Amino acid sequence: MTPADDMQALVPRHDGSAEAGASAAAPAELLELRRLPRPRPAAGQLLVAVALAPVNPSDLLYIAGTYGLPRRRGAAAGFEGTGVVVAAGDAATAALVGRRVSFLAGASGAWADYALTDPASCVPVAQALREEDAAALFVNPLTAMAMIALAAEAGARALVLNAAGSQLGRMLIALACERGIATVAVVRRPESVEPLHALGATEVLASSLPDHAERLGAALAAHKPRILLDAVGDQAAADLFA
Ligand SMILES: NC(=O)c1ccc[n+]([C@@H]2O[C@H](COP(=O)([O-])OP(=O)(O)OC[C@H]3O[C@@H](n4cnc5c(N)ncnc54)[C@H](OP(=O)(O)O)[C@@H]3O)[C@@H](O)[C@H]2O)c1
Repeated sequence: MTPADDMQALVPRHDGSAEAGASAAAPAELLELRRLPRPRPAAGQLLVAVALAPVNPSDLLYIAGTYGLPRRRGAAAGFEGTGVVVAAGDAATAALVGRRVSFLAGASGAWADYALTDPASCVPVAQALREEDAAALFVNPLTAMAMIALAAEAGARALVLNAAGSQLGRMLIALACERGIATVAVVRRPESVEPLHALGATEVLASSLPDHAERLGAALAAHKPRILLDAVGDQAAADLFA
């Protein structure tokens, strides 16, 4: 390989899924930096020169082998990112060459100098959009929009969410606020409370405080939410509606 036809990529060290109960390794131990052939776009595919790609929880689950999608050893990880389209696999998609896009990675991942995507999985973005926002335009924003649309369709006037200080949680709060849906937001740490009030959350409760159970009970009684958006899946979440 010459520098012109290869690239650097972060690839999983292991293939397939992890065995249940396998001990959790640090992300750095699950990845290796490799030189790989630069992908060539087939018909219907686009090649993006990656500028920035986020590390989402789903990426971490994938490289650990616990995402429900088997790892491909030696193939770049990374589900989304931003960059400039540098090649198209056919004339029909060539109009996107040269465009700055946000993309979902297709046949090769976003944690690499170059990644494959396709026209249905990328969106041209304005130069004014910050790189870090362009890099994370799909996974969290679309999930938040879908969840709030479902809550609105169900007629929700209030909802509870945990891990509320997460990127997803912050988007859920902002979108719920726009729709007039009250939010009872649960975080772990007291220092996470004020920023969520500033975003428009109706109630923000820190689960590490000694009076959490009483405050939560009062908030649930006041707002009567019938929807829980649970990103934690622990007993405390299960107990919320007990
Ligand atoms: N389509 C989908 O299914 C989809 C899409 C997007 C996101 N998600 C899920 O949504 C969640 C949030 O994603 P994100 O990218 O927004 O995450 P993020 O910004 O990395 O934030 C993670 C959050 O989780 C909290 N957290 C971690 N472990 C916790 C625990 N044991 N108990 C309570 N809180 C805990 C952290 O709280 P601290 O601030 O206290 O550390 C932090 O606020 C993840 O579970 C992700 O997998 C699912």
